Amino acid sequence: MELLGRLTWVRRSPRARLGAPARQFSTPRLDLALAKTPPPASLDANFTCFNQNCGKTFSLGEVRYRCACEKNALLDVTHDYEKIKQAMSPSDWRALFDRRAGSTLWPYGSGVWSKKEWILPHIDNENIVSMFEGNSNLFWAERFGKTLGLSELWIKQCGLSHTASFKDLGMTVLVSQVNHMRKTGQAEIAAVGCASTGDTSAALAAYCAAAGIPCIVVLPRGKITTAQLLQPIANGAIVLNIDTDFDGCMKLIQEIVGEVPIYLANSLNSLRIEGQKSAALEILQQFDWEVPDWVVVPSGNLGNIYAFWKGFNMAFELGLVNKVPRMVVAQAHNANPLYRAYRDGWTNFAPIKAEATVASAIQIGDPVSIDRAIYALNRSDGIVEEANEDEIMDISARADMTGMFTCPHTGVGLAVVEKLRQKGTIDRDDRVIVVSTAHGLKFTQSKVAYHEGKLKDVISKHANQPINLPDKSSALIDALRTRIKL
Ligand SMILES: Cc1ncc(COP(=O)(O)O)c(C=O)c1O
Ligand SMILES: [Zn+2]
Repeated sequence: MELLGRLTWVRRSPRARLGAPARQFSTPRLDLALAKTPPPASLDANFTCFNQNCGKTFSLGEVRYRCACEKNALLDVTHDYEKIKQAMSPSDWRALFDRRAGSTLWPYGSGVWSKKEWILPHIDNENIVSMFEGNSNLFWAERFGKTLGLSELWIKQCGLSHTASFKDLGMTVLVSQVNHMRKTGQAEIAAVGCASTGDTSAALAAYCAAAGIPCIVVLPRGKITTAQLLQPIANGAIVLNIDTDFDGCMKLIQEIVGEVPIYLANSLNSLRIEGQKSAALEILQQFDWEVPDWVVVPSGNLGNIYAFWKGFNMAFELGLVNKVPRMVVAQAHNANPLYRAYRDGWTNFAPIKAEATVASAIQIGDPVSIDRAIYALNRSDGIVEEANEDEIMDISARADMTGMFTCPHTGVGLAVVEKLRQKGTIDRDDRVIVVSTAHGLKFTQSKVAYHEGKLKDVISKHANQPINLPDKSSALIDALRTRIKL
């Protein structure tokens, strides 16, 4: 506590900040003891019913995904904010998080576990299953931003992670809690399972393999990429390939976990949200705790939009920052149930049958976290916008030509930013963050098809084909002269 009080808070000028590398996580060796300093008061967390009229609480040690009330509502992991405030001042919390992230001190170097007291305070460090996830780059897309008429477009690269998507952030928390329950004998859990559009299964398989816990993944056959299918196969998961879509897989896994002791790892399980919210705190850290104006999240099952809002809101309620950014849900036109409800003034929400989209990980028509998303949007003056197949691939190609390698979901986010800028909703000097939810290398099939001009409903305006040539320098020079002035 005393030590923390002596930390100096260095604030860089905005200009210096923009010019500096986005990662600010190196921790000098001497600070490791400080990083370990536990907060003085004992903190804890519970499951609380998401139905605001119910508020029933349950122990995190219970195998439970919903409340028992008539609404069958989802749960939320809740923390005692008064205790957190008593434990340390806002500036001490900021300093503690900043000092820990990126260090090699188990488990606090992880972008998630550097905020352990705000996530799962009770868990023994030796039961944590972490692969030092998080601490992902926040990249200033200066050149690309200018093409959209924006001076501050930033990309939060959540795909630069262990299994190449943001899912690692939630999975380290969920698998750690399962590991804790198995080790302490709190619950009989034979395996952990999920339905997936490809990234959840990859993350679950990796974290289960790291912990030695059996893993089952239920996948919509032919609707995920080869890389995504390979990931759980390589990690030794039991891969169940089903002739249905994601919503069908979700129904099946929920039926299964009701009958056999398999723990459900989909984001309806609020433990996942706790880890995912750390990315919002990380964005604040990366901007020296200045709050951006807009945060755009490509969304399908709608867990992540709530997670981001929750992270920002927690920092706000606990006095670390003075506002919450405006949240934007970005949906693919072919899988846009939330956009339809928003467009119609929230009069009604109806699940839809989601059509195929290049943004295959968000091909979801019946989002489980619908109530959570609406809650987050209402409390952040939020917006929902959509992008069609051509818009997604076109902007992905344009972004790539400025040095990125965007996955189609990130393309949805970028296309939505372009629309909101064109409408004047987003101003030229607003600071805008697009959450890049996965690495583009998982989605080479659609990216190759774009450059070959083979995608349905997409005009490949920026297709770039390799030039096949004979083994002769003159042929190379002739070919180059057709492309650039030499
Ligand atoms: C790459 C990618 N982007 C976005 C999402 C959407 O996240 P959520 O389902 O929490 O809305 C997912 C997962 O579903 C994903 O894998
Ligand atoms: Zn309830």
